[in-house]
Amino acid sequence: MTSGPLAIDVRGLSRKFGAFTAVDDVSFSVRQGEIFGFLGANGAGKSTTIRMLCGLLRPTSGTAIVGGVDVRRDPEGVKRRIGYMSQKFSLYELLTVDENIRFFGGIYGLSADRLEQRRRFVVEMAGLHGREHTLASQLPGGWRQRLALGCAILHEPSIVFLDEPTGGVDPLSRRRFWDLIGGLSDQGVTVLVTTHYLDEAEHCHRLAIIHAGRLAALGTAGELKQVFASRPIIEIQAARPVEAMRVLDALPEVEKTSLFGTSVHAVVRDAGTAPEALARALRAAGVDAGSAAVVSPSLEDVFLDVVERIGAPA
Ligand SMILES: Nc1ncnc2c1ncn2[C@@H]1O[C@H](COP(=O)(O)OP(=O)(O)OP(=O)(O)O)[C@@H](O)[C@H]1O
Ligand SMILES: [Mg+2]
Repeated sequence: MTSGPLAIDVRGLSRKFGAFTAVDDVSFSVRQGEIFGFLGANGAGKSTTIRMLCGLLRPTSGTAIVGGVDVRRDPEGVKRRIGYMSQKFSLYELLTVDENIRFFGGIYGLSADRLEQRRRFVVEMAGLHGREHTLASQLPGGWRQRLALGCAILHEPSIVFLDEPTGGVDPLSRRRFWDLIGGLSDQGVTVLVTTHYLDEAEHCHRLAIIHAGRLAALGTAGELKQVFASRPIIEIQAARPVEAMRVLDALPEVEKTSLFGTSVHAVVRDAGTAPEALARALRAAGVDAGSAAVVSPSLEDVFLDVVERIGAPA
């Protein structure tokens, strides 16, 4: 997705809290209809950035144009044009599903007819038939999240910010949620979404990795994986992976290792390194090693690599 109008345009955006810089000179843009993922560790600055883009928090410096509106000049105008699902739940626990929808419809100033039409749409989209009179607090996690999404898009915004929408829900509900995000994008809605689940980040058209307030990497998942183009990852099955890592780390051809489930990922310095050579070196050192093969980098490999290269926050 390289053409089309810009939905979000961020230039040199920064936010300080006292002497602490939470968001540091961040620039990126998102096209209409794009699903743009924001990845970063706890405290990286994702929510702070989103809150500035939603007109909820004033930037210390820099500009952000969202839906054609400057967030600093007209934060109220931005709020009208966007949908926002905050990291902490935006539902009213003591209201039912229907009451939550009506409440948000009231905030957005929807007419009675439109509200009823949108209410039906949200109940349908979120699979909430038969639960209209259930209290939000009694809904299982996946249903709550779909309801929260429905409430965030009740007024049909063309840009939606979803801050950690799938935290703590089961894999099936997460998949269903991502289907909804895909559907929004197909209709031309721009979605900026944060997640800690790197598997689901693969659904994003483009990704930004934010680390210690700074933009550390930007591109499609495929582009980001190119950091390993000349440094293949060799996956080795090992009964005692920690011991295997110690031996591998001492080999000159190995740049670094990391634990992946029950196997070890070794990043090698030279594309010509034979996987079997690493397994042999392990066996020679008295460490059991099963199969060894070059594997495609996962986003988890990319994320760890980017963060390690930059180093821990000061
Ligand atoms: N109102 C505030 N006052 C002071 N510091 C703040 C404030 N809001 C955020 N911070 C700090 O700014 C940094 C970035 O926080 P932010 O919530 O943006 O991170 P995040 O990437 O969303 O993290 P998480 O993945 O845990 O949600 C953190 O160190 C946080 O403590
Ligand atoms: Mg956050």
